[in-house]
Amino acid sequence: MNLPSLKQAKIRGKEEVKILYDDYKIPNDVQNYFKNKKYYIETYGCQMNVHDSENIKAILENIGLTETASMTNSDLIILNTCAIRENAHNKVFGMLGRIKHLKEEKKDIITCLCGCMAQEENVASIIHEKYKWLDLVFGTHNIHKLPILLGELIKTKKQNIDVYSIEGNIYENIPVKRDSKYKAWVNIMYGCDKFCTYCIVPYTRGKQRSRLPQDIIKEVEELVKDGYLEVTLLGQNVNAYGKDLKTNYNMANLLENVAKTQIQRIRFITSHPWDFTDDMLDVIAKYDNIMPYIHLPIQSGSNRILKLMGRRYTKEEYICLFNKIKRKIPNVSISTDIIVGFPNETEEDFQETLDIVNTLKFDLAYTFIYSKREGTPAAALEDNITLETKNKRLQKLNNLVNKYAKENNQKYLNKVVPVLIEGESEKKGKFFGYTDTMKLVNVKCDPSCVGKIINVKIKEIKTWSLDGDINND
Ligand code: 5AD
Ligand code: SF4
Repeated sequence: MNLPSLKQAKIRGKEEVKILYDDYKIPNDVQNYFKNKKYYIETYGCQMNVHDSENIKAILENIGLTETASMTNSDLIILNTCAIRENAHNKVFGMLGRIKHLKEEKKDIITCLCGCMAQEENVASIIHEKYKWLDLVFGTHNIHKLPILLGELIKTKKQNIDVYSIEGNIYENIPVKRDSKYKAWVNIMYGCDKFCTYCIVPYTRGKQRSRLPQDIIKEVEELVKDGYLEVTLLGQNVNAYGKDLKTNYNMANLLENVAKTQIQRIRFITSHPWDFTDDMLDVIAKYDNIMPYIHLPIQSGSNRILKLMGRRYTKEEYICLFNKIKRKIPNVSISTDIIVGFPNETEEDFQETLDIVNTLKFDLAYTFIYSKREGTPAAALEDNITLETKNKRLQKLNNLVNKYAKENNQKYLNKVVPVLIEGESEKKGKFFGYTDTMKLVNVKCDPSCVGKIINVKIKEIKTWSLDGDINND
């Protein structure tokens, strides 16, 4: 039993990050036990978690399990959880209620919880005290240990909570079962050292650790060989890539080297305005295979709130960077994240957020009501704003954001754009994909287009998507 500690998770020491190439091992007895058994996995939260689930799926399949879409027919259930906001928690606790009933009927089913919620001290202690039927809880630092943890579980049949509040290492060579044959997530770094005052991530994912450039490039080269068309480079704050390496190698260098692999499309998320360099912009502008799309969270339009959030930039600096990106990268689209209702956000602060949306006219904005995360500095701030006010502000902000999303889409009407077709759309007879600028497009085409980048003529504009036909001109 290893329980997480927030106090421990906060520490950033001088210990060197270890890069471990062969720490993933499978005990023999585990393989025999799980042969022909089925697993059900549910993933909550960000792309980092989606990619972790791709690792978990491969690990489970390595020990003999196969995936099922039916929870009731499974022999092992895993919830890969997210801690970023309270509603992510609530969804998971709701799900645990359902799983408990299932476990009462089907005693042998193995139940596991992992991901960011597992790293939270209060969640782990609730599980320890009140969810004794939950078999295994592991965290974000020991996914590679899953076969060993399952091996111990089938022997002891006792609940095990194995979560480490450490700064973290890098585990290479963990197997991966990718959800797509065309698009791949590639981690370039783990953790975050920014400690924005509202955010739980630096506590749940450890310190910033960059993978070595050669390991990243090797992974992308293999993806190219396997026929992948697109990679998304993943990190909590990708612009800071390399800062923890003992070399001068940085995100601009990495982007350039990834571009040289000739993979057709490169994306990267998430960028923090603080670390965005001119060198990065030059590389993005230079290479056609680096997509002209940037996700650049602003969080608030008020300098007072930005300071309380610990974001390290002013709205003026953000606007300056935004304009530079627009100037240097032709046709770029820019999306953002915005939090409303940060403790004691005044009407004036909120108005400044609306003002900046009116000025910058984002292509898209992901908007959230502030959610108090236990243990973060913002959780200690007094908050006099009612939830009703926060909901009203969110509604108002969303209306504005939607207006600009649609307005930005207008320029695509009757234009021909390249779209990587990913699969069948929810709309009957149509297929969906994304433009280089990350616009969702529903296309009338035949199934042979899936997995190809095709030219699409846009015929109709919507707020969240575009409709089009194959361009035969
Ligand atoms: N409350 C609300 N939104 C949050 N985010 C991060 N932490 C919180 C929180 N405590 C949002 C930020 C971030 C996005 C991934 O989630 O906008 O950019
Ligand atoms: Fe959280 Fe800020 Fe790090 Fe993003 S940069 S993960 S918001 S602490």
